[in-house]
Amino acid sequence: MSLQPHGGVLVQAYNPEKVITHITKGIEIDAMALSDLELIGIGGYSPIEGFLTKEDYESIVARTRLASGVVWSIPITLPVTKEVAATIQTGDEVKLLHNGEVYGVIEVADIYEPDKDKEALLVYGTQDLEHPGVKKLHDRPSVYVGGKITLLKRLEKKFPTYTFDPAETRQLFLEKGWKTVVGFQTRNPVHRAHEYIQKAALETIDGLFLNPLVGETKSDDVSAAIRMESYEVLLKNYYPQHRVQLGVFPAAMRYAGPKEAIFHALVRKNYGCTHFIVGRDHAGVGDYYGTYDAQKIFEQFTEDELGIVPLKFEHSFYCSKCEGMATTKTCPHDSASHIILSGTKVREMLRNGEVPPSTFSRTEVVEVLINGMRKEVLS
Ligand code: ADX
Repeated sequence: MSLQPHGGVLVQAYNPEKVITHITKGIEIDAMALSDLELIGIGGYSPIEGFLTKEDYESIVARTRLASGVVWSIPITLPVTKEVAATIQTGDEVKLLHNGEVYGVIEVADIYEPDKDKEALLVYGTQDLEHPGVKKLHDRPSVYVGGKITLLKRLEKKFPTYTFDPAETRQLFLEKGWKTVVGFQTRNPVHRAHEYIQKAALETIDGLFLNPLVGETKSDDVSAAIRMESYEVLLKNYYPQHRVQLGVFPAAMRYAGPKEAIFHALVRKNYGCTHFIVGRDHAGVGDYYGTYDAQKIFEQFTEDELGIVPLKFEHSFYCSKCEGMATTKTCPHDSASHIILSGTKVREMLRNGEVPPSTFSRTEVVEVLINGMRKEVLS
């Protein structure tokens, strides 16, 4: 199994020594662009070397590929207001600031107005402003700036023990002797269904890279700090330590379902994964996507084009007759015996002080969630 980064070369655009004293112009970027800047800089988005130019942007929106033909599904864009756009020109070097601090520099190659309705429809599959990703898309400013970046300053490491660059995880997996590594994306605590599919994968794959997304999420998702604590307690009690690596994924959540599943897989390939888990309604929200749309989209590309193998899992649940986790592929009983709780339902239960059953989530995990939520309410 080849561990090539996507597009062949791991982009390395972090250079804190870069001289920027001659650069006078600067633009303030939002939290999403900041996390994208970091991920481009450390090679997470290889082969992308900067915020998208118009050619690459339009190509990704229309045909899920960079202009070069390499598969890519989510536009990585740098939106600015018309007023800001009027102050910069192609050819400029411009500082990228967040809360007044310089995090990077962009060599401006392109300044263009995107068709956001088209982007919404083709990337998110809907133009509904109730969709959190589409809303975010429209809330961001209306002009995109494209060009190669240099990352000058790293994001503050909120979870230092679990923060690795793609070059580091690649090395780590080698040292562990894992020939195959399965990546797992999540924006939720790991419940029994997640654990089941991870462990089903671990029956044949050498190692699991549990790679929770800790960038921007919608406000009702469980906070990253609480989730990290819940992963720690779960791994400590229920996973063989030598077969799992926990590491954070600093990107923002897009909730783009199928297109985001491809993106999630390609980025995990850059982190050194050979396989990637895609379960039910991956990166979905509400009822915008069919349960298995995020699995079906992988059929549009060849194995070589993707270079990472999706491991597709059915909706899993606890069956009281089987007395264990199962899916309709392995359980003959009807739905009356199945305990199915959604993440949303569980969050609701926790907020109301109800304890989700241990058939849905491990007791240790539930304890962390209840305590964490209590603390957040009090603070
Ligand atoms: S996501 O937005 O990050 O995809 P979530 O954290 O809920 O959301 O899911 C993480 C992964 O587990 C995704 O691949 C998702 O498809 C899968 N998954 C979540 N719940 C189930 C379930 N009950 N059965 C099968 N797969 C699931």
